[in-house]
Amino acid sequence: MKKKLFIVANRLPITIEITEHQYTYRPSSGGLVSAITTYLSKNDKDDFTEKVWAGVPGCNEATWNSITPVSQTGDFKYLPVFTNAKKYELYYNGFSNSLLWPLFHYFPSFAEYRTTNFDAYISVNKLFAATLASQVTANDVVWIHDYHLLPLAAMLREMIPGLTIGLFLHIPFPAYEIFRVIPKHWQREILSGMMGADLIGFHTVEYASYFLSSVEMTMKAKCDGNIITWQNRKIKVESFPVSIDFELFNNASEREDIKLIQQNYLTLKGDNKMIFSVDRLDYTKGIQNRLRGFKKFLDKNPDYIGKVVFALIVVPSRDGIKKYAERKKEIDEFIANLNSTVGTLSWQPIIYQYNHLSFEELVALYTTCDLALITPLRDGMNLVAKEFVASRKDERSVLVLSEMAGAAKELTDALLINPNDISEIAAMIKQAIEMDTDEQAQRMQAMQTRIKQYDVVTWATDFFDQLQETKKLQVEFNIK
Ligand code: G6P
Repeated sequence: MKKKLFIVANRLPITIEITEHQYTYRPSSGGLVSAITTYLSKNDKDDFTEKVWAGVPGCNEATWNSITPVSQTGDFKYLPVFTNAKKYELYYNGFSNSLLWPLFHYFPSFAEYRTTNFDAYISVNKLFAATLASQVTANDVVWIHDYHLLPLAAMLREMIPGLTIGLFLHIPFPAYEIFRVIPKHWQREILSGMMGADLIGFHTVEYASYFLSSVEMTMKAKCDGNIITWQNRKIKVESFPVSIDFELFNNASEREDIKLIQQNYLTLKGDNKMIFSVDRLDYTKGIQNRLRGFKKFLDKNPDYIGKVVFALIVVPSRDGIKKYAERKKEIDEFIANLNSTVGTLSWQPIIYQYNHLSFEELVALYTTCDLALITPLRDGMNLVAKEFVASRKDERSVLVLSEMAGAAKELTDALLINPNDISEIAAMIKQAIEMDTDEQAQRMQAMQTRIKQYDVVTWATDFFDQLQETKKLQVEFNIK
């Protein structure tokens, strides 16, 4: 039977930048967008007659209509959701990014509890539901993504009861002790909203089990293993570690255009060892501890002064939120201080860029560096770690990775660190820089095998297969 797939996320995968005389598009940043766009462009084996991506476009309706963007590869259509700017601000900067984001990443002291934000969150979710309901039929499949849209599944279920709905959370789900600090009626709205879905996916087994315990404690719902019985429905909860297009990254280093960019970076690197990192500017990413670890490494190993450079790329993000703007200032100051006190006229320990990177520049840096230093204080998955490993067809270089990233559950051959242990970061930088090439290759091979086996298409296919099975379970259950 013919059916459409609706991907629903807060953002559309393009960001429209409006300058005085023209519009430019760039891909939106973050793991969610890169995973889903890759899946949509790569997979043609599914049975959907049409694929649609619903999300806010970042411009008003009149502007959108005047430019009517289409997906460049033609793999899917856009369904823009237009919101009132003030409401969007309270929903996005407010409830989503000043309550759910900090709390789910274990920063409870950053969380802001404002009723106006919660009301706007519910209201924007209702707007998503209404926009979708005008396009979706009961036979279609809706796949909702991330923490901005947790109440949406139940809203859609109420409007179209038989609809197949999947929900995937791209950030951690926290332990109940953290979740329960949210006011009780908000907890209930969030959990009952999520349970409108047939299948709820998380990156790791741990996040899934934390969700199940919150469901038991807050909703008093019956959980039998990973199946919840709720309002005469069966809901499945499962882990699906999101992944990347392994072949795309693995083959990229052979592209002539990327080799050209790489030449520039090799010249910049000279005889130095190069450490590399790239993140959105976010307090969860542990950029300051990483810088402290690098400084400690130089302090403890003065022989390396003048022989190691750290290429640190920070991608602008959520700068309308004070906690983010503050981080930017602190990072800038730390770098200026280190470069001016430890650096010389002929050598700067940190090469710093605060801007977006193209895919080509990104891969050129992945394949130039001797070590990728990825130290989030908390991260749902971290696709940069997987991209870096996949890019290293030469099986050289070392991944130093935080135990607090979901990716650490799979990439156990990385050098794992606790991101709060500055001495450990410093020691692992040294160990990585001095690692012999046999050990580098052995570790890279093991990690590449894992990523190749479970790439982004496998991830999404696995999700759809289980969604279909859950739907069958639902039907059987309702017949009884
Ligand atoms: C994370 C979130 C995504 C989000 C991305 C970029 O990866 O899980 O939902 O899109 O960050 O953040 P932004 O606020 O710019 O959309």
